[in-house]
Amino acid sequence: MNEKLCCANFYQTDYARLLFGNSMHPGGLGLTKELGNKISITKGSRVLDVACGSGTSAILLAKNFGCHVTGIDLGAKNVDEAIQNAAREGTSDYTEFKTSDAEKIEYQDESFDYVLCECSFCLFPDKKITSNEIYRVTRKGGKIGISDIVLRGELSQNLRDSLYRFVCVLEAKSENEYAGYLQDAGFHRINFDDKKETLLELLDDIKKRVFAAELLLGLKKIQLEIDLDKTKRIIRELRECVESGLLSYVLITGQK
Ligand SMILES: C[S@@+](CC[C@H](N)C(=O)[O-])C[C@H]1O[C@@H](n2cnc3c(N)ncnc32)[C@H](O)[C@@H]1O
Repeated sequence: MNEKLCCANFYQTDYARLLFGNSMHPGGLGLTKELGNKISITKGSRVLDVACGSGTSAILLAKNFGCHVTGIDLGAKNVDEAIQNAAREGTSDYTEFKTSDAEKIEYQDESFDYVLCECSFCLFPDKKITSNEIYRVTRKGGKIGISDIVLRGELSQNLRDSLYRFVCVLEAKSENEYAGYLQDAGFHRINFDDKKETLLELLDDIKKRVFAAELLLGLKKIQLEIDLDKTKRIIRELRECVESGLLSYVLITGQK
């Protein structure tokens, strides 16, 4: 299986749900709303959510900003869930979801006023192609809102390997590198806003979920084929990297 599909499949597993819940990014829906406000999403506008997962953010954006949101994700199961979630939340008229690769977005040029991408740009193996695709489908004057993990240096090889297996995060970059991809694609007014505290909070949440899973495993209430001790060790190491400033989470905005 190729690297991209393997990554998309990971985010559909029970393990990923256990770690992250439904909103699979630091800061949860609060940060999604903040991102939407930052780029001033307007009522009736067309929004694309690249790598939308199970549609949680798209549904929130449609409800809060009165916009029409298209969500694309490589994981077909995620897309099916997003369609069901939207029906349950009563936003089916304002949201649509499709299986599509961020490196080959199946929409025409300038189809969207705003393009969002949360906690996913770091996963894409070819950021140049993805940046060009996001630029292509954004209308002139339209805005982008990205939230993602930044890596400001080298992780130990051990942590790098674990992270790849743990959450597919192999390709996080520094602020300068992200800005470079977006500027090369044609975006300007690139801005960063550090949200390190959201990453620390997510790691604390994950730790609590892992403890809860351990308890349930002990009581034989669930079955999980994963090494929870190793997961706890990785979380500890990651926390150190965030506290030292090596890893963080940022909001990135820009304009076409
Ligand atoms: C960390 S989750 C974030 C999901 C969602 N944006 C959120 O914040 O809840 C990463 C998502 O990226 C998707 N993904 C990974 N590679 C992709 C690609 N090449 N094209 C589209 N989606 C992709 C995965 O299927 C997964 O749903």
